[in-house]
Amino acid sequence: MPIRYCVRFLIAAIALAVLPRACIAAPHTTIRPGAVWLDKQGHGIEAHGGGILYHDHTWYWFGTDRNPQLDAAKRYVRCYSSHDLIHWKNRGHALTLADPEHLGPRWVLERPKAYYSPLTHQFVMYMHLDDAHYKYAHVGVAESNKITGPYHFVASFRPLGLESRDIGQFVDDDGQAYLVFESRPSGGFYVARLSPDRLSVRTPAVAFFHIPLEGGALVHYDGMYYVMGSHLTGWRANPNVYAAAPTLSGPWTEFREVAPGSPNTYGGQSTFLLKVAGTKTSTVIFMGDIWKPRALWDSRYLWMPLEIKDGRMLLPEPEPWTINTKTGITTIYPKQPRPMQ
Ligand code: GAL
Repeated sequence: MPIRYCVRFLIAAIALAVLPRACIAAPHTTIRPGAVWLDKQGHGIEAHGGGILYHDHTWYWFGTDRNPQLDAAKRYVRCYSSHDLIHWKNRGHALTLADPEHLGPRWVLERPKAYYSPLTHQFVMYMHLDDAHYKYAHVGVAESNKITGPYHFVASFRPLGLESRDIGQFVDDDGQAYLVFESRPSGGFYVARLSPDRLSVRTPAVAFFHIPLEGGALVHYDGMYYVMGSHLTGWRANPNVYAAAPTLSGPWTEFREVAPGSPNTYGGQSTFLLKVAGTKTSTVIFMGDIWKPRALWDSRYLWMPLEIKDGRMLLPEPEPWTINTKTGITTIYPKQPRPMQ
């Protein structure tokens, strides 16, 4: 190697060793909130309003595919799989549906969430089904014997007999599965248990919150439950809020903003709280959508590790970051060097 390259290499190595972490450029293997996120095949990831199912040591990401080149009469849920939460393999359309309840043109399928039933060994997908005016307000349920699908439509219904629009998913550490759903006539949102076969919603609800929130999500972390959602401003982002409690039946804290440093949660809307339990630490990832209503297919993803302690949660400013899914440890790479502590 010519001497000048050796010298450059030496300088680079010394710089990496002595510079504060904040000044080191992010490696290519980062999650970049708000950027186009390519799958392993080099296509933009289409998994909006999504959720994650961890199964057989693999994460599966389900969300709506809004590609405008698809058949406009149908709705599509795409599935991706990953072992590191950074690189995602496109597993194709898990669900392709043609207006199963005759809801008419511009019918709506949003926020698909997939569960596994240890009882039946089937995979069950919940989704928000609606007509163009959001009056139908049902959940749809589809089932498959393979995690990646194809899922087959089973039924649609109103959970607990109530109007249901945005839905969220939660599976507790004990395997119990829950559905979170917003129900505006009652001025709030519910958390309800699913049956062991995951095909129906158990009554009564385990929690009701007197605040209508969409993009509902829930996580159990370090002995506390955290519920989160956004206010009802359509595709426009607003300050997402959360509350905490030692048990699902409460007592719950008041709702607080998760990103007090931003008037609109950095442009994102919650869709899922993903806990990664590593050997060294557990990390909870805020998964949100940065919607582009005029080009929904180009909506971006806002994923960031949350700072959580004693019933308080904070979504830090979005920056490139990585996670070691074995240890659970995350590293953030600020774009602007931060002053040294
Ligand atoms: C949002 C909701 C989205 C979609 C949108 C339609 O509030 O979270 O899933 O329904 O409204 O305006």
